[in-house]
Amino acid sequence: MKTLAELADLSGRVALITGGAGHIGRAVANGLAELKCKLCLLDTAHSDVVAVSRKLAARWNTEVVSLEVDLESEDLRATVRPFVEERFSRLDVLINNAAFYSVEKLEGWVAPLEEQSLAVMRRCIEVNLIASFHLAQSLSPLMRNHGGSIINVSSIYGVLGPDMSLYGGTEMGNPAAYGLSKGGLVQMTRWLATMLAPQIRANSISLGGVYRNQAEAFVDRYVARTPMKRMATEEDFIGAVAYLASDLSAYVTGQNLMIDGGWSAW
Ligand SMILES: NC(=O)c1ccc[n+]([C@@H]2O[C@H](COP(=O)([O-])OP(=O)(O)OC[C@H]3O[C@@H](n4cnc5c(N)ncnc54)[C@H](O)[C@@H]3O)[C@@H](O)[C@H]2O)c1
Repeated sequence: MKTLAELADLSGRVALITGGAGHIGRAVANGLAELKCKLCLLDTAHSDVVAVSRKLAARWNTEVVSLEVDLESEDLRATVRPFVEERFSRLDVLINNAAFYSVEKLEGWVAPLEEQSLAVMRRCIEVNLIASFHLAQSLSPLMRNHGGSIINVSSIYGVLGPDMSLYGGTEMGNPAAYGLSKGGLVQMTRWLATMLAPQIRANSISLGGVYRNQAEAFVDRYVARTPMKRMATEEDFIGAVAYLASDLSAYVTGQNLMIDGGWSAW
């Protein structure tokens, strides 16, 4: 029987993380690099993905390449597979983590129901849902021979309805498109899990809110509603991603893991 350390070891494997320059993308990239995984960090040309990749490679002495792609564009998404194929000839882990959501100022996004824009909703679904499917579809041939793992990053709002009383008196909100796209991602995970088994596993993680200096009134209400009595930190997710990416979870597929401090437990 293998040891826990052997099951967790990712040496020789390659992971692609979308939104790799973002807060959570960077944190989970660090965790996988520590387990000796090679990485491809995908993010937009406006992000600091190149610098993030260099820093990670130097810190963990592993190969980390950056890839600047706007996931909203189907044509640009089509360049991902040839890039990974040429660079690594294989893929073991795909983490669909990038999301259309840090766009608070966009008109028709954080707005009352009747003012939410359908055009913005389509953009959100394109990035959060269709791009995740497109990458799984185009990259799965590179993953089949190695026992691949797909991890889709969802949210409590992909599983539960929003409690709008949390946002009262703040500029924050909870657009329908976000939860809709994240709920779709959880169901897409089950679909992929059954279609791609036994060669490739697919699971999702549904995250609770991460503390980032949000309005005090929001944080107080959020914490009061959370059994663990705090918001999440990026560190809270790295263990789950290491588990789902590695052979530690070799018999786990089609599951959605809530990492929410118990938010969904009552
Ligand atoms: N932060 C939270 O409270 C929270 C809660 C639940 C779920 N999540 C989920 O966690 C994931 C990561 O969130 P985060 O908090 O690290 O956000 P973040 O904004 O820090 O990172 C998201 C990254 O995705 C990239 N991205 C966005 N649109 C893209 C596009 N079109 N093409 C390529 N890259 C694109 C951004 O440039 C950014 O680097 C998201 O899927 C989000 O929905 C976050």
